[in-house]
Parts: sequence; C-alpha cells; structure tokens
Amino acid sequence: MAKELCLSGKNVTKIFGFGDKKTIAVNHVDFNFHVGEFVSIVGESGSGKTTLAKMLLGLIHESEGEISFLGKPRDIKGRKQKREYWKDIQAIFQDPFSSYNVFHKIDAVLLDCIKMRGGKNLPHDKKVEMMTEACSFVNLKFEELTNKYPFELSGGQMQRLMIARIFLLKPKILLADEPTSMIDACSRATILDMLQNLRNEIGMTIIFITHDIGLAYYISDTVYIMEKGNIVEYGPAEQVILHPSADYTKRLINDVPKIHEEWDLSTV
Ligand SMILES: Nc1ncnc2c1ncn2[C@@H]1O[C@H](COP(=O)(O)OP(=O)(O)O)[C@@H](O)[C@H]1O
Ligand SMILES: [Mg+2]
Repeated sequence: MAKELCLSGKNVTKIFGFGDKKTIAVNHVDFNFHVGEFVSIVGESGSGKTTLAKMLLGLIHESEGEISFLGKPRDIKGRKQKREYWKDIQAIFQDPFSSYNVFHKIDAVLLDCIKMRGGKNLPHDKKVEMMTEACSFVNLKFEELTNKYPFELSGGQMQRLMIARIFLLKPKILLADEPTSMIDACSRATILDMLQNLRNEIGMTIIFITHDIGLAYYISDTVYIMEKGNIVEYGPAEQVILHPSADYTKRLINDVPKIHEEWDLSTV
C-alpha cells in the first residue's frame, strides 16, 4: 500500500455552543489517512464521528487544529477553493434519498457527474458508454434506469446508484457515513464489496464510518476508535481488534458475538 498522505489532521477539534451548553464533539484528534487506504472510524452513537466527517468534508469549520490534504495544509476558505476541494472528496450518507434531486431522472443524475468531471462536450455515445459502464460496475442495467426517477428505485438500487455516481466522479476520497445501516444484510454485503472494488480499481482513499467494529474489522486496513470525541486507539485493523489496548475498544469487541471467526460476506 502506498504510504503517501491523503488526509491528515493535527489537534482537530470541534466545539459546539458556549458555557454550560458547550459540547466538545471532537477533542484534539490526530490522524493520518493514506492514499488508497481503507480506514474505518468506529465509535458508539454520539462519539463525534459525523462531526469529524463534516470537518473532513469542509462542511463545518474546525474550532482548533489543522487538516492537511495531500501533505499540504488545506485551504478551503474561498468558494473557489472549496469547489475545487469538493471535486476530490465525495460522501455517501445513510439515507440514499438525500443524495438525489427527486425531480431529476436517473440519466440526468449520471450525466451531471460526467459534466462535473469536465465531460460536458463529449459525444452523446461516449456519455452513454460511460454511464453504462458505471451502472454495470454496480450491477445495474443502464437501459432499465434511463427513464426512471430515483424514488422509483428500491433502497438497495439507490445505494448502488450512489456508488455508480462515485465511479463516474472518481474523487480521491470517498467518505461513507454509516452507509449500510438502512439496508438489508444482502444489499449491505454488496455495497461493502463495491466499496472495496472502488478502492482496488480506482485507488480511492475510503473513510468508512460505523458503530459496528465487526464490520470495520472485516472491511478495513486501518481502524480509528472514537470515544466521546477522542481517538482512544488506532492502527491496523487486525492489531486493534485482535489485540486492543483501550478498555473502550475491548467493550465494543465484547458486544460483537463472533468477531474472532472468519468474516464471510454472507454473514456481514
Ligand atoms: N450542530 C450541533 N450542535 C450542537 N451539538 C452537536 C451538533 N452536532 C453534533 N453535536 C453533538 O456532538 C456530539 C457528537 O455528535 P456526532 O458527531 O453526531 O456523533 P456520532 O456521529 O458519532 O453519533 C453529540 O454530543 C452531539 O449531540
Ligand atoms: Mg453519526
């Protein structure tokens, strides 16, 4: 695996509110995510995962600390810099419906991705070829989708369409915040498989956020454990989960019945 830094942070902190109402959602965390690495951020609800994700995405500003992108301090103060940054980082969220404009047909959704990548003036045939390829990457048939609206798809199909978008956009970083918690086990395994394919084929850095340490063990290279805004432990997935040092990690592991057994896709 390449050792080049993709996203890193030093003392990254987010404080909400003031005085009595102050919440330190993320508390002076350090992290180094590398190019092509599959990283999971694991913690219970309220541990600060989504807040950290929003800072990584540049949707909220850090109260303290510094985030670097490709080894340089990230500068996204201006609108233009932000727009540039957002070409390199994409997110998928829990609720796939929130990612789509409900009034746009699916081919418009996919064409938008091609446009965003600078392919606006490509010949129509080429665009269709790209959309067909993206759909087949996630086992969808483009011909069957062209005239549909997102709300006409099943939850599993919507999730897959979301990954087809990522395939077209080819960002450097994909941030997935609990993307599988609303879907059945079968589609979940498929989605995880597709995320790994994205990493393997496109070399994306994937930041996967979950409360499920078993899932993190199964899917990631590196695991960061968050408890109440702090990163209490991190390292290679095997090391953190088979030889945890923090009590919090041990507790998370004890809550998972069969973590030491081989994970196979049908049981995820
Ligand atoms: N916009 C906000 N204003 C105030 N408090 C917030 C806000 N967003 C999150 N928090 C608080 O920050 C803490 C971490 O929340 P969050 O990042 O959503 O955790 P997680 O995603 O791990 O469940 C929680 O205590 C939450 O109530
Ligand atoms: Mg969350």
